[in-house]
Amino acid sequence: MQLNTLGMVHEFLRRHVKEGAFCIDATAGRGRDTALLCRLAGERGKVLAFDIQQSAVDQTRALLEQEGLSAQVVLDSHAYMEQYAPAGTADCVVFNFGRLPGGDPHIFTRAESSVAAIGAGLRLLRPGGVMAIALYYGKENGYEERDAVLEYLKTVDDRVYTVLCCQWSNRRGEPPLPIFIWKEH
Ligand SMILES: C[S@@+](CC[C@H](N)C(=O)[O-])C[C@H]1O[C@@H](n2cnc3c(N)ncnc32)[C@H](O)[C@@H]1O
Repeated sequence: MQLNTLGMVHEFLRRHVKEGAFCIDATAGRGRDTALLCRLAGERGKVLAFDIQQSAVDQTRALLEQEGLSAQVVLDSHAYMEQYAPAGTADCVVFNFGRLPGGDPHIFTRAESSVAAIGAGLRLLRPGGVMAIALYYGKENGYEERDAVLEYLKTVDDRVYTVLCCQWSNRRGEPPLPIFIWKEH
């Protein structure tokens, strides 16, 4: 496992996503997380991916085609993901907040829709399902989204969800925070 946030998130996905799983990639971007979810869920599984940028949707579809994988890639905000799947059915929901590398610099995940989308994702999880979040902050992203997400996660019902927010104590710069959530069986 690579000792960085994406390495930890991917290792978490490898451990939890089983053949036949229904997974949601809430921030498709270039499609790398979507492709990993497709490989882990296998042919019997289903993957739904969201992005608000057409170029991200196009890049994700192109990567999937190149790798012989398939997913439903939707041009819409993750805040509306409950319109695309019934509550309590997802095995795994993944967020990789921030901006699309090489994409429109003015389009990035924002506090209000990110908090709404995490809430939606939690409701979509089935009992025993998991959520993984890579939470970027600092530089152009600022701190508003990070602070709003961390505050929101403190309010999540501990009788239903276990929330683990990790931080890198001695890394230089402002590395993204890995966050892991388990829904009770
Ligand atoms: C850091 S990138 C995701 C990287 C991606 N997971 C990958 O593997 O390449 C963040 C993405 O979130 C998208 N995004 C921003 N706001 C969004 C929203 N409200 N709903 C869905 N996607 C959003 C951006 O367009 C961008 O492509």
